[in-house]
Amino acid sequence: MSGHEYTVPVPGLKATEVPEPGAVTIVVPTFNESGNVRQLLHQITESVPAQVPCEVIFVDDSTDDTPEVIRQAAQDCPFPVTVLHREEPVGGLGGAVVEGLRAATSDWIVVMDGDCQHPPSLVPELVATGERSHAGLVVASRYIKGGSRAGLAGSYRVAVSRGATWLTKSLFPRRLHGISDPMSGFFAIRRSAVTADVLKPLGYKILLELSVRSRPREVAEVPFVFLDRFAGESKSTAQEGLRFLRHLAGLRTASPVARMVGFGLIGLSGFVPNLVGLWALTGLGLHYVPAEILANQLGVAWNFVLIEHLLFRDRRAHRRWWDRVGRFALLANADLVLRIPLIALFVDRFGMGALSATALALVTTFVLRFAGTEALVYLPRRKKEARRAA
Ligand code: GDD
Ligand code: MN
Repeated sequence: MSGHEYTVPVPGLKATEVPEPGAVTIVVPTFNESGNVRQLLHQITESVPAQVPCEVIFVDDSTDDTPEVIRQAAQDCPFPVTVLHREEPVGGLGGAVVEGLRAATSDWIVVMDGDCQHPPSLVPELVATGERSHAGLVVASRYIKGGSRAGLAGSYRVAVSRGATWLTKSLFPRRLHGISDPMSGFFAIRRSAVTADVLKPLGYKILLELSVRSRPREVAEVPFVFLDRFAGESKSTAQEGLRFLRHLAGLRTASPVARMVGFGLIGLSGFVPNLVGLWALTGLGLHYVPAEILANQLGVAWNFVLIEHLLFRDRRAHRRWWDRVGRFALLANADLVLRIPLIALFVDRFGMGALSATALALVTTFVLRFAGTEALVYLPRRKKEARRAA
């Protein structure tokens, strides 16, 4: 853990006396929420400790005086309050939540925002619902009866949120079955169901990350009204939207089969720059053979950029970029060179028709190219790692 951390103990109660069975650790990610944290702690004090023993952990990436304000406000709280301040905000909001999940000690963990858009009065109910239904995860949902998104600022954000929810639900129909609001930032999870090590959070959607990568078998939902922010402004940006799309792509292509499908789709999309390039180069008067070769490189470049960012984002570090470009281009061009002799082989040796031979050759070189890209471009190099370990 980088940065500093401190706990404000409750008078007369030692830190070791918490947690109790059924108790809850409330994890709150904060980024410059100095105008909200005092109010949040006040609301938690009003509605939680009388129902269920609690502690609060702030995971803070602020550049303002939020940690200081929390420390001041914590002195009026009848429960332990901890601030984990991170010097490096790795993984953004999601990374902060995972740090909180790791640090939590109670049977139940509730994750909620620090801007009072998530009503703390619901915390005991989330935990009670989990206990009653033996669920590992209880989602506070805006999209079931009794819930609403009153505080989502403006029809633009409502439309974006709805579209994103629909897209996400259609990409993961099984994993998100029974979760009407996978974008919610408000949920309770049993500590025994947390598998922090498999999580690779990227930005805002930590519940999505959890439910796709390590979904507890039983999931329950409780409706809630998404309120207005108490103070300040949302920290979400257009860049956060792009991060979300990358997050979706990363989750969807975690398995090799899904990656192969993605690889194929990206390959198909590469025909567009390829053909446009061919059209432009022949238009400039270039002979069609060199034009084909050049235009093909355009398609290769297009494919490379998409594959790097959408499919192998977290497997790039062990080779330099020019090394990856070189290998990728070599594989892509070998594909072209290999295709004709392969077709000839299928026709002459196996007596196949030209059309089926071409189709079979396309499939074969595609699978070879995919396997080659996985193994020769993006596979972590074992020898070096082993040597380093030794
Ligand atoms: N530690 C940390 N690091 N906290 C962060 C960061 C970060 O990089 N970015 C944002 N936060 C904190 C904020 O301080 C706040 O407490 C909470 O995360 C939510 O951030 P907001 O900026 O208020 O998000 P929002 O209201 O736009 O979005 C919320 O509602 C969405 C549903 O519409 C979040 O809960 C989203 O996860 C949720 O999808
Ligand atoms: Mn908010």
